Amino acid sequence: MKKVGILGFLCACFFIYSAHTSKDQNSRNLAEPDKPVFIPPSEQRTGDAKAGYEYLTTGDYVKGGLPYDFFQLATGKNNTNYLGRTGLNANISHEFTLVKADNGENLVAPNCMQCHAQVFDGKLYVGMGNSFADFTMGQKLNPQAYTMLENLLKRGSPAKYEATKSFIQVARAIGPYLTTAVRGVNSADRLAGVLAAHRDPVTFKWRDKPYLEIPKEVIPSDVPAWWQLKKKNAMFYNGFGRGDFGRFLMASNLLTVNDTAESREVDSRISDVLAYINSIEPPAYPKSIDKSLSGQGAAIFTKSCSKCHGTYGTTETYPNLLIPSSIIKTDSFLFKSNYQNPQFVNWFNSSWFAMGDHPARLEPFNGYIAPPLDGVWVTAPYLHNGSVPTIDAVLNSKSRPKYWKRDFDDPQYDYEKLGWKHSVRDSASGNTVYNTTLPGYGNYGHYFGDKLSAAERKAVIEYLKKL
Ligand code: HEC
Ligand code: HEC
Repeated sequence: MKKVGILGFLCACFFIYSAHTSKDQNSRNLAEPDKPVFIPPSEQRTGDAKAGYEYLTTGDYVKGGLPYDFFQLATGKNNTNYLGRTGLNANISHEFTLVKADNGENLVAPNCMQCHAQVFDGKLYVGMGNSFADFTMGQKLNPQAYTMLENLLKRGSPAKYEATKSFIQVARAIGPYLTTAVRGVNSADRLAGVLAAHRDPVTFKWRDKPYLEIPKEVIPSDVPAWWQLKKKNAMFYNGFGRGDFGRFLMASNLLTVNDTAESREVDSRISDVLAYINSIEPPAYPKSIDKSLSGQGAAIFTKSCSKCHGTYGTTETYPNLLIPSSIIKTDSFLFKSNYQNPQFVNWFNSSWFAMGDHPARLEPFNGYIAPPLDGVWVTAPYLHNGSVPTIDAVLNSKSRPKYWKRDFDDPQYDYEKLGWKHSVRDSASGNTVYNTTLPGYGNYGHYFGDKLSAAERKAVIEYLKKL
């Protein structure tokens, strides 16, 4: 499978670096009750799913990029056309969209499918998290490379240089920040934080020198499937995305936005994208399912899992619960960063995104949302940081590998354990071995399957195939 190239580093989604405003609030949050917390619903705008798909796959919500012919020269023609697009879009990967610069030049801009689409068994699924993206190459994106590119364009075509210069300016500033330790995890959260740091919260005006302090850590996450969102009352793993979801969806526009007039235009179309996201159904498990075994699994699931993950089938329920750290016990790096780096949450909550008729806001929490499990059979690897290769290992913590490697070029799925086939290693070596000993990459916690017998676990997995 293809690696995400330079432009893959240049997208962002939203702001995870979030926090409280004072020490008092911090201590109050850290003393949070040791029981699940219900997330209340917030009003969402309605939209047209078909128009949303069009905009998502051909729209200019990211308005900057590299000149089309330069891009073609660098990457070659892409013949996959998974999205069945027409015109020049037919020649570029689904991860990019052709947009027009103000001076009429054709630019290739990165789009949401960089991270939110994945090829599985030869077919592209829009909305499946891309667990193949490679953010390990950050160091190679050095400032000199951008200067070279600029000089090349300046000499070749002043019009093309004019059309692409603000994109290069942003790319140069954010490139060095985005490196992850291993392939397959995503640094979108950091990207969003870095973009925020360089933009005025109200006017979105860019400044080369960051307004906010940018922390050293790159927090890894596994991209969640879009088809879960329709059940959720809050966005993101720690459930801190509240209010109008469209406002978070459009945050990629921060990459290249020129002014808030442009933001208003994207904002007016983004509820269609939300409608499209809410229309996506997960792919069905393609092999046979043992009915009697899954029936046994259903009963165990109802008893041991439903109170957090909900019920499925004819009577669908979803409790929308945040599970505090003291109960879930999974890696705390992601939600803790919200308290350690309050500047990003403060930025968001005082920004353009938090204003107007349909504002959004960030509400940090010490723990994670219990996600809906629809289509969970296909969304490996598991947990918010993608640290566990199979569901079988999610449900049996002692069997989770400390170092594991999957084949990124010829990936094989395990349809019984539900997850990526992988080899277990003795130590970390290279950036394709997932190393659970790194900060933020831990595979501990979620011990709820440990008390099941091997036969019960098998039954629960058989049931999960149906969701
Ligand atoms: C560089 C990768 C990247 C790009 C580009 C990107 N996203 Fe995301 N997105 C992520 C990651 C990673 C998360 C999960 C972060 C978390 O919850 O901590 C996420 C979360 C989301 C969620 C929340 C899902 C949930 O269940 O909470 C939505 C919706 C979403 N993105 C929509 C979009 C849209 C629409 C675009 C394009 C305009 C986009 N994203 C572009 C990486 C990306
Ligand atoms: C107390 C609440 C709670 C209970 C009980 C619970 N879970 Fe979870 N589950 C969670 C939370 C919270 C997460 C997300 C943790 C994270 O990503 O760090 C999660 C994550 C998962 C995941 C990984 C999802 C993904 O896409 O990465 C699976 C699979 C899962 N649970 C299955 C189960 C099963 C099966 C049971 C019953 C044996 C169960 N859970 C019981 C709260 C719970």
